[in-house]
Amino acid sequence: MRVSLEQAIAELKNGGVVAIPTETVYGLAADATNDSALRKIFEIKQRPADHPLIVHIGDVNQVSDWATSFPEVAIKLAEAFWPGPLTLVLPAQPQVSRVVRGDEPTVALRVPNHPVALALLKHGNLSVAAPSANLFTQLSPTTAAHVEAGLGESIPVLDGGPCNVGIESTIVSVSANGLWQLLRPGMISEEEIAKVATTHHQAPFTESTDASQVVPKVPGQHALHYSPRTPLMLFKDRLSLIQESKALQAMGLSFAIMLIGDSDHVELNCQTINLPNSPDKVAELLYSSLHDLDAMKVDRLLVELPPVLPEWLAVLDRLSRAGYR
Ligand code: TXA
Ligand code: MG
Repeated sequence: MRVSLEQAIAELKNGGVVAIPTETVYGLAADATNDSALRKIFEIKQRPADHPLIVHIGDVNQVSDWATSFPEVAIKLAEAFWPGPLTLVLPAQPQVSRVVRGDEPTVALRVPNHPVALALLKHGNLSVAAPSANLFTQLSPTTAAHVEAGLGESIPVLDGGPCNVGIESTIVSVSANGLWQLLRPGMISEEEIAKVATTHHQAPFTESTDASQVVPKVPGQHALHYSPRTPLMLFKDRLSLIQESKALQAMGLSFAIMLIGDSDHVELNCQTINLPNSPDKVAELLYSSLHDLDAMKVDRLLVELPPVLPEWLAVLDRLSRAGYR
């Protein structure tokens, strides 16, 4: 059910949930200060209750409403990348809902770079928790139609067009003493983060029980995540993909393929999605391509992996969670 901006604001203020556009993926939003509204997110997504949620705020000045400290490193990152596809995990104010935090001592914050999302947060004077608007472990939505296909027509959806980043935000945790750590790769690369966070070292990959030293583990990062319904096979090179397609053909199984980069000399008799050799473009089109492949109702999906280079890491991360080799 499509709703207007005013209807979305009213629904959220009333304790309802609304799927909202962001530049990364559509989020299933609820008022981040309303526990009963927040619980609806978990029910609808069928998501385990211990998974923390990202709080979307309209302005960097609101960080102090949620976090007990905003270390210099985090301020620099926010200045460089907000509004944008960066989530900062900071030590939480004690009054921040445990439903949002998933019982962690930290809270995840982001100012999204989408005009409709920003209008909702600012005009509605709202902060909304919003995980991706899909069922737990299914493909993330990058259009209003994807949300409806995954969650049903009764979900209110604020349509803001297709998402132009296309994969979920980069998540960086910053502890009170300024150590930072990448928790989830995204289109803002670790190199870009390191360049801005100059003077501080990356926290070692350890867990601390001291809240002031919190270097959070990564709750909710499941190995099997972001998957289409059709079994998806990943290939490091095109030759092995072509060999597998011949084997499937011989077995009488149907398949569709997704290639990255030029498709010259590939003559496979099957439906093909050809993505350009550009990390930004592949990220933007990744989930919608996987949704389209899934809708082809074939026996197998065969996907060519991009090269293992820094600029492809976020796409490689999402693909490796969607399929198997
Ligand atoms: O791009 C995005 O980030 C999208 C859009 C809608 O903003 N949202 C999104 O939310 O991807 P979700 O729920 O799919 O991912 C939230 C993830 C959690 O699974 C967890 O890994 C991390 O964010 N997270 C949230 N709060 C955290 C916390 N306090 N400590 C550590 N990780 C946290
Ligand atoms: Mg998700």
